[in-house]
Amino acid sequence: MKILLLGSGGREHALADALSRENTPVDLIAAPGNPGIAELARLVSINANDPREVAALAEAEQVGLVVVGPEAPLAAGVVDHLQQRGIPAFGPTMGAATVETSKADTKALMMAAGIPTAHAETHRLAREAKEAVRTRFGAPVVIKASGLAAGKGVIVCQTEAEAFDAIDRILDDRVFGEAGAECLVEAFMTGEELSLFAIADGHDVLPMIGAQDHKRLLDGDEGPNTGGMGAYTPVSFSTPSLVDDVTERIFLPTLHALRTRGTPFTGLLYAGLMLTPEGPKVVEFNCRFGDPETQAILPMLTSSLLDPLLAVSRGARIGNMAPFQWRRGASVTTVVASGGYPDAPVTGFPVHLPSFSDSVRVFHAGTKRGDNGDLLTSGGRVFAVTALADSFAAAQRASRDAASRIEFEGAVYRRDIGWREASRVG
Ligand code: GLY
Repeated sequence: MKILLLGSGGREHALADALSRENTPVDLIAAPGNPGIAELARLVSINANDPREVAALAEAEQVGLVVVGPEAPLAAGVVDHLQQRGIPAFGPTMGAATVETSKADTKALMMAAGIPTAHAETHRLAREAKEAVRTRFGAPVVIKASGLAAGKGVIVCQTEAEAFDAIDRILDDRVFGEAGAECLVEAFMTGEELSLFAIADGHDVLPMIGAQDHKRLLDGDEGPNTGGMGAYTPVSFSTPSLVDDVTERIFLPTLHALRTRGTPFTGLLYAGLMLTPEGPKVVEFNCRFGDPETQAILPMLTSSLLDPLLAVSRGARIGNMAPFQWRRGASVTTVVASGGYPDAPVTGFPVHLPSFSDSVRVFHAGTKRGDNGDLLTSGGRVFAVTALADSFAAAQRASRDAASRIEFEGAVYRRDIGWREASRVG
C-alpha cells in the first residue's frame, strides 16, 4: 500500500509513525515532510496546498491513499480535486471543512440543530458587535474571528473594554485579514476542556480516546496562547459513557446536519469540548487531527489506523468496524519550542538530540537539515516529546525529563503538562 501524507509538522510525524507500525507494510511518501518523517518516508517537495500539484504527484506515484494532515490543503479543496480524479483521500471536502474554516456558519448550524454549544451572535460591524457585548452578553465574553487565524483568532475577554478592543482589532484593523470579516460574540463557558477526535464516514463515527491540550506558553497556564505546548491521554473524566454521550448528542447530529446541508463530512472530526455543569458543549470543531494531541494519542493505538482511514476514503461505512484498541497506561507529550515563540521564534540553531528508550518518541515539528546535514531548528514548535508509561505520573516525569535533554539555544518547554490530571490521579 503506497500512501501520500501531506504536511510537515509533529502531527504528521506521529501519523507517519502510526502508519509505519501497521501490520500491512506501507510505502510512505510525505510532502513536504520534515527530517523526522524522512526516517519513515520518502520526501517530495511540492506545494501541498495546490490541489493540482498534489493530484499530479499522487497519480505519478500511483498511491492508494492520500492522508491530509493540516487544514490548509483541506480549505484549498485538495480532497475535492483528488475525489474528482478518483484518488482515495482521507479528509473532508472544502465544503465540509467549513466546520473549521467558518466558525460563523458552524455556530449557526449547531444552534439550528440543537447541538450543545455556547450561545453566540455573528457580526460584521464593530458597532453592532459592541452593542451585543454591552446589552446582551456582558463580561467575561469570548470574541472569535470566524475564519482560519492560525490558532490566534479566539480571544477570551475578562472585561467589556477588552472585548471592544478585540472587536476593533478583528473587524476594523483586520489583524487576521479576511478571517476577521465576521466575528462571533460568544457566551463565556466554565469547565474543563477536552479534545475528542472521531473518524467520520459522513454518517457514523469511530471515536478515539480523549486528550487535553495546553494552549498557554508557560507553566500554570500563564503567558500567551500558542498552537499547543503539550497534551496527554487518557483523561480520567473522559469515560466511555461521556464519549457515548458526545457521540449521541454532538458527533452524530453534526454529521446529520452537514449531510442535510449537502456537505457530508468524511475524515477526522475534532470536537473541542467544554465540560460544563450542564454537560459537554462544543467550543469549536476542527476538520483534521489536532496538534499536539495526535502526538500523545497515536502512540497509544494498538489496532489499525489505516483500516478506517482507507474505508472512509473509499466511501465505505465504518459503523460496524471494531472500536480502536489502546494500550494501558498513559501518554504525555511535551512540546519543545524555540525562544521567542509564539510571537517571534528565533530559529536556525543546531540541535543536540540524544537517543531515548523505546517508550519515548521524539516527533519533529520545526526542524530542517543544514547544508552539511546537521539538524537545525526551523520553526516555533521544534519537537513534541511523547513518553508512554504504565502510570500517568511516570509518563509525565519521563516526558519532562526527555524534553530537558533536548538541547538547542533558547529552547523552552513546560514542566507541568497534565497538571490537572496529576491533581486528579496523583
Ligand atoms: N490542539 C489544537 C489544534 O490542533 O487546533
